[in-house]
Amino acid sequence: MAPLKVIGAGFGRTGTDSLRLALNILGYKTHHMKSFWEEEADTNPDDFIEAYKNRDKADWDKVYENYTAAVDWPTVEFYKDLVAKYPEAKVVLTTRSADSWYASALKTIHPASAGILENPADEQKARLGEMMKLVVLDGHMVNRETFKDEKLIKKLYLDHIEEVKNTVHPDRLLIVELGEGWNRLCEFLGKDIPDIPYPNANSKESFQEVLDAYNLPKPEA
Ligand code: A3P
Repeated sequence: MAPLKVIGAGFGRTGTDSLRLALNILGYKTHHMKSFWEEEADTNPDDFIEAYKNRDKADWDKVYENYTAAVDWPTVEFYKDLVAKYPEAKVVLTTRSADSWYASALKTIHPASAGILENPADEQKARLGEMMKLVVLDGHMVNRETFKDEKLIKKLYLDHIEEVKNTVHPDRLLIVELGEGWNRLCEFLGKDIPDIPYPNANSKESFQEVLDAYNLPKPEA
């Protein structure tokens, strides 16, 4: 199915799941961290571990062979490689304030990914935990000590946004703020605006259901 036509450069908890659903509505097949949880997952954490360790030799067509778009981690870690590999692909940077991003991550993906690494339910989750440790936020997302350093973590978040802006040519880049609807996204991708509301998925509250549904360790209070 590759090559990738859309690359998400925004960190998890910036509306990446809604973007995944939106892109799927527009006709793409979109990779997201959630793709690893699907019953018949057609993506493998080991491919990303291998790509991280042997970056120059990564076979991106193979890694994303079942997808035409990719958002969220692990893709974010590799956005520069993918932007170079797929010159026709467009880049969407989802954003929100550093304060609200940190508050959201602190209650959701940080404890969930730390828990998966510490206490994986099965071998596939163990591989996922290893992948997160390597590719998500320089290992800080799974680290209960360093993730507490709000200043450091927010700086990484803001530095990443600046880096994307400075790296990706403006003609290929759309920066969207959490809560924006279809208009600019559809215009950017040359698609008609669908007749249904823009998705609103993966809230803090619904994240609890994900943890329950997939038997993931509960975040600490
Ligand atoms: P909160 O944790 O503050 O509820 P991701 O899918 O990247 O993990 O991001 C999820 C965050 O984006 C959640 O934030 C969720 O509520 C917010 N979100 C997703 N779609 C949204 C939309 N259409 N409008 C406003 N917020 C949205």
